[in-house]
Amino acid sequence: MPSALSTPNIALIKYWGNRDEALRLPKADSLSITLDSPRVEATVEPSGAFTIESFDAAGMRQPQSKQSIDRLMNHWRLSREYAHSINAELPSSVSVVIRSGVPQAIGIASSAAVFSCLAEAYAALASRPLTRQEVSIIARLGSGSAARSVLGGFVALKNVKSDAFDGAVAQQIADEKHWLLHDIVIVPSREEKKVGSTEGHAMAATSPLFDARIKAIPNRMEECTDAIRTKDFEKLQRVSEEDALEMHRVMETQSPPLHYLNDETHRLLKEIESLRRNQHIEALYTMDAGPTVHVICTEEARKAIEEFAEAQKGCVIFKTKIGAGSRQL
Ligand code: PMV
Repeated sequence: MPSALSTPNIALIKYWGNRDEALRLPKADSLSITLDSPRVEATVEPSGAFTIESFDAAGMRQPQSKQSIDRLMNHWRLSREYAHSINAELPSSVSVVIRSGVPQAIGIASSAAVFSCLAEAYAALASRPLTRQEVSIIARLGSGSAARSVLGGFVALKNVKSDAFDGAVAQQIADEKHWLLHDIVIVPSREEKKVGSTEGHAMAATSPLFDARIKAIPNRMEECTDAIRTKDFEKLQRVSEEDALEMHRVMETQSPPLHYLNDETHRLLKEIESLRRNQHIEALYTMDAGPTVHVICTEEARKAIEEFAEAQKGCVIFKTKIGAGSRQL
């Protein structure tokens, strides 16, 4: 039975807002670091009807909401349509078993890991081998950011001139051996968020700040790519933090507003800024759709950041680093 594994990624230039909601074609490009953990594994098998079973890291069965089942079924339907359009037929239906070490809905990209893993597993059922870009398109049809977890290292999701399935694809900027960066993830609250990113993207353009942000992204993509290629941490920090804070200002001013960051997040950001100032540490922060703070740092800074993270009372910590992306097992 085909199996695959994948991991989350953390965006430095964030994806927020689509030009096509159904196909999850982003309004602007984005850029992330693929992480090496936590892992998601999926096993798929052709079957008479679409079924899904899900287990957590401890092997406990995870009940799936109707919304989640509908999203997975819709992704399978789109994956088949896309596969058909590129002469790589998929079976009529499939049974899926997911084992996930990624806690859901707290801002560590569980959907990115799950949909890139499914894309990889579905690819193993196709009537011909798929390219990495084709696998990234299948991942994107479930979650835009998932397209980036298909490749390792530093990965951009780039728009191309097409309004069809292939209108945005993942491209590797540099592989995972280029620059050893860590992501020390500090989770201040395990309360599941009420509004997920799928609904959030759809309302992004209602923010008065949205258009200016979309215009600013091409320059930021260039700066971020350059900072990665030249390993200029200070530049990476400036452009990534600017972009993360701006995405949250868009979220907070769209209607209805989305307030993903809480008081704990803001306290952590202030403390990271003063730690960095006082100890000249190479560390930057970024936050996705949740209060979780990702502290990206160099190998030299890792110990100090881990100590800082471990000293945060009531927070759950994940220690991850740059990884190789999804693959078939
Ligand atoms: O892939 P989605 O639909 O879950 O959107 C993710 C959006 C952010 O995580 C907030 C930013 C990003 O680029 O990952």
